[in-house]
Amino acid sequence: MANKVPRAPLIVGGGLVYAGACALAFSVFNSGNKNVKETNQHLEAHREKDPNFSFVSDPCRACRFQNVANKYDKEIGRDESVMGINLLRRSLLYFHSKGLVLEVGAGTGRNVDFYPSAVDRVVLMDLSDKMLAEAKKKLYKDQKPQFACVVGDSTSLDFPDDSFDSVVDTFGLCSYDDPVVVLKEMSRVCKPDGKILLLEHGRSKTWDSITQYLDRNAERHARNWGCVWNRDLDRILEEAGLRLETLTTWHFGTTYYVVCKPSNITQ
Ligand SMILES: C[S@@+](CC[C@H](N)C(=O)[O-])C[C@H]1O[C@@H](n2cnc3c(N)ncnc32)[C@H](O)[C@@H]1O
Repeated sequence: MANKVPRAPLIVGGGLVYAGACALAFSVFNSGNKNVKETNQHLEAHREKDPNFSFVSDPCRACRFQNVANKYDKEIGRDESVMGINLLRRSLLYFHSKGLVLEVGAGTGRNVDFYPSAVDRVVLMDLSDKMLAEAKKKLYKDQKPQFACVVGDSTSLDFPDDSFDSVVDTFGLCSYDDPVVVLKEMSRVCKPDGKILLLEHGRSKTWDSITQYLDRNAERHARNWGCVWNRDLDRILEEAGLRLETLTTWHFGTTYYVVCKPSNITQ
């Protein structure tokens, strides 16, 4: 049974978050139309060679991050500020991360400012050395010696069982080929009394029109950003066997804020 999240620091931002979501939805709807046609042309070209081709299931999808690394913060940053995502990042990490932390799919290090100073050490891990190079620039600029960056694959983590007090993933489950495998790996390396902290986006269970929009544009978004934005997060969390402590949703049910204990299902 999920408890209530400590909401005090989020209340002030609540109005901003929803107003921002409306502004963002408007901007996404507008910009999305531009390259739907282009995506369809690319899709048709691929399907001439492979009739089942899809950008959503393309195994090369994760490689997109190598190409977008140097523009990622600029492009994502504006949308995230409007949507109040940084408040959610800060709340998740400030209240729930502790001790030795592993952040998988850490990308350009968008969370580095939000860890409490009390954490012992944070290992930022990502498959893309170019995304991590952006993270390293932030760490170097702000002199943060408690952070380390490691290139690695979240589907097979190179750490022993029960290594970390907190294992974090933000906006990564949309990008992995198999998010359930990643959550199981996160569980494996998390200490039994540790926490898994997630901030993710997926399909809305409450707003059909939003989910229909995400479904219609999933190919375009996967092609541009390597991200499958219409995944069913409830199903993914359940399949991974995580034990939920807190689950709240934001942005019309598309953003999930989750604190859980590792799965006790043995692999
Ligand atoms: C949408 S970005 C999110 C980045 C960051 N966590 C954030 O909150 O902004 C997804 C990240 O997952 C990484 N990624 C994708 N597949 C991966 C894998 N198998 N192992 C590790 N990282 C992966 C990508 O390189 C990318 O940096």
